[in-house]
Amino acid sequence: MSTQSIDVAIIGTGVIGAAWATGFLTAGHRVTTFDPAEGAEEQLREQVTNCVEDAGSGSAASILDNLTFAPSLSEAVAGADFVQENGPERLEVKQPMLAEIDAAAPKAAIIASSTSGFSPSQLNAQATKAPGRIVVGHPFNPAHLVPLVEVVPSPDTPAEVVDRALTVYEAIGKKPILVRAELPGHVANRLQAAMWQEAYSLVDRGVVSVADIDTAISYGPGLRWAILGPLAQQSLSGGSGGMRHVLDHLGPPQEVWMHDLRQVHLGEDLKEKLISGVDEELQGRDPAVLSKQRDNMLLELIALKRKYGELP
Ligand SMILES: NC(=O)c1ccc[n+]([C@@H]2O[C@H](COP(=O)([O-])OP(=O)(O)OC[C@H]3O[C@@H](n4cnc5c(N)ncnc54)[C@H](O)[C@@H]3O)[C@@H](O)[C@H]2O)c1
Repeated sequence: MSTQSIDVAIIGTGVIGAAWATGFLTAGHRVTTFDPAEGAEEQLREQVTNCVEDAGSGSAASILDNLTFAPSLSEAVAGADFVQENGPERLEVKQPMLAEIDAAAPKAAIIASSTSGFSPSQLNAQATKAPGRIVVGHPFNPAHLVPLVEVVPSPDTPAEVVDRALTVYEAIGKKPILVRAELPGHVANRLQAAMWQEAYSLVDRGVVSVADIDTAISYGPGLRWAILGPLAQQSLSGGSGGMRHVLDHLGPPQEVWMHDLRQVHLGEDLKEKLISGVDEELQGRDPAVLSKQRDNMLLELIALKRKYGELP
């Protein structure tokens, strides 16, 4: 399979499906979609147009010529080289959907699920034709802008399928990582969960306000993490001694902090503190305006990474 102009099937065309359709169409691929919801085709065309405009990636009109809406799931995947599944995050929906995709798609097609939480082994439980080609390809919202995709194979996935999935994502300008074990939340959401846990705990204990948690990250380490990531960034703190020096010098106190971190239970009291804290922090700012501003700043950040050679 060449990565030039492949046939891609997008199953489920909600928020994430529309973002994937935009990415594959913008890269010049033919995209066939299916979604059983009333009015799904019009909504998808509108969402793709919005995503293209947001991303500043040319005219939507020309790429929409390569978009087809199929009357059924099996017709959508029948000629696919690559299927991206984006149905509701419910196992009782995803398992039969993936079994149907597996039955109807050409045997060589890769089937990737956008699932935020399920493992490929859970997803392929009802597939029989080639269950090993079902992998997770988990994007990050706003998925038409954020480059990360987590690729999670099952133990049955051939190495060639993993390589092809990574290549397909790279070829549409994504930044895929390979996750070598099936874990709840994959990797990036586990890292976020580790931080949320401590943030929630610090708020619960009254150590700091919700607003100050956000300031601590978005005006501090968060600024650096978007540029280098927490580990490469940490190595810079060691000067010419690099990571070895940081770990020898600051590793012992860091271990004390790590062992002091708390587990939290998201009970009603804590939820109330977090909700009222965010309300106070945002003071009625319109979430739609905030999202738009976040997306605009993200675009500039991504352009900056491109300018410095950190993205193709
Ligand atoms: N929203 C996020 O932030 C996010 C981020 C990463 C991954 N994901 C994952 O992406 C997937 C989709 O999430 P979303 O936010 O786009 O949800 P969504 O509700 O916006 O879209 C789901 C779509 O699936 C369609 N659908 C329902 N049954 C179907 C069927 N049998 N066949 C085909 N389509 C069907 C629905 O009509 C709907 O359009 C989920 O697995 C979710 O975990 C979501």
